[in-house]
Amino acid sequence: MELIAKKLIGSKEYDGELGEIINPYSKEVTTKYVKCSAEDAKKALETAKEAFKNTKNSPLHQRINWIKDIANKLKERKEEFAKYITLEVAKPISQARVEVQRCIENLEICAAEGYRIVGETIPTDATESGFKTTSFYKRVPVGVVVAITPFNFPLNLVAHKLAPALIAGNSVVLKPTPEAPYTAYAFAKLFIDSEYAIKDALSVVYGDAEVGSALVTSPIPRKISFTGSVPVGKIILQSAGIKKVTLELGGNAATFVESSADLDWAAQRCAIGAFANSGQVCISLQRIYVDEKIYEEFAEKLGKEASKLKVGSPFEEDTFMGPLINEEAAMRAERWVQSAVSEGARIIAGGKRKGNILEPTILADVTDDMNVVCEEVFAPIVSLVKVPSYEVAVEKMNDSPYGLQFSMFSNRVDLMNRAIDDFEAGGVIINDIPTLRFDIQPYGGVKLSGIGREGPKFAIEDMTEIKAVIIR
Ligand code: SIN
Repeated sequence: MELIAKKLIGSKEYDGELGEIINPYSKEVTTKYVKCSAEDAKKALETAKEAFKNTKNSPLHQRINWIKDIANKLKERKEEFAKYITLEVAKPISQARVEVQRCIENLEICAAEGYRIVGETIPTDATESGFKTTSFYKRVPVGVVVAITPFNFPLNLVAHKLAPALIAGNSVVLKPTPEAPYTAYAFAKLFIDSEYAIKDALSVVYGDAEVGSALVTSPIPRKISFTGSVPVGKIILQSAGIKKVTLELGGNAATFVESSADLDWAAQRCAIGAFANSGQVCISLQRIYVDEKIYEEFAEKLGKEASKLKVGSPFEEDTFMGPLINEEAAMRAERWVQSAVSEGARIIAGGKRKGNILEPTILADVTDDMNVVCEEVFAPIVSLVKVPSYEVAVEKMNDSPYGLQFSMFSNRVDLMNRAIDDFEAGGVIINDIPTLRFDIQPYGGVKLSGIGREGPKFAIEDMTEIKAVIIR
């Protein structure tokens, strides 16, 4: 059966000229999608604007049941959705299954948050002029939400936007990543076909900058929620006009391995954090600052852990790491490795590229100004930097334009307490990798890593307005 992502304008499906998705590993056409234009984006927005009249007045219990229903439907079709992810973006099948499981839990958490969309009373009688007033605020939906999502988690990062937006009473236009239209389409169909669905509440259009720009610059949406690169995030911020904007952008996540840490645990986890999904994660571990007393010992342990990871076909059960999303990305990553080596870095593991696959690569003796340290690599490359103290590690970690998540491995409680305040990042993780994300947590960054937080509770807050009510 051909997998074709149809254009979804509201609850109606449309055929049209087809584009093809080629699997980054097998190089075979795996899915197709209906190409969309800026005109389609405008139609989707008009439809969403009309639909908002219904979504905003719909009963909350219906919307809670809606999200619960999607979680249940996804549970029944777990394996099918994992296969779509692997077919489109070549994520190893075992990790695609983890993404589907996370998505189910994310939806369940979001449904539970539906019961907590609450306001608060305001004591306006605290001033003389407010005597005999009763006041409160309530949360109301913002209106039309535009959701733009990336390729690295083509299912769960869609859920992180659709579920909070819809449960809060908004209508949504989704532009999923051009690399995985079918995963997004199949997921959107679960929403549209649900017995609890609100007619036309969700549209899906596919495309790149032209479609994205039509969505972002239109006066119809009241909220743009974007996950992707810093350059595109900047364009969105500059062109959106006066709207709420959430940006989940890049990072160059770092950890500090302190001398009291459990080094076996740290090495095991750092290999996962650096190489899972071929490093194509915004919180992929990219910089490891290691206390000089344990530097060589840790480097050896990390090299051993990396050598255990099976690299190859994403369709095989025991593959840990597959290809990068395209050859251009792999070639760029290889160039960065070569440039670091030419400036004095030492390769401890990997370094070679074959087509789209770059081996899990560990670099030692890197310096602060090398691309592999100061830019976002988004590839399976991790760099080791020797540091004399906690203070120097903090200084180097914070000396970055990004600040998504940082971590530290240490058994010293005093340093744990300090790190929580010292690390300039949206999230601090102690005794695990910065790549750790629980879907329930507030997730987002400081500096170039973005604006706002996701995670069901926080996204719902962002996708609602506060309305003050005063009764005299
Ligand atoms: C991201 O790349 O920002 C998402 C990471 C995750 O959800 O684990």
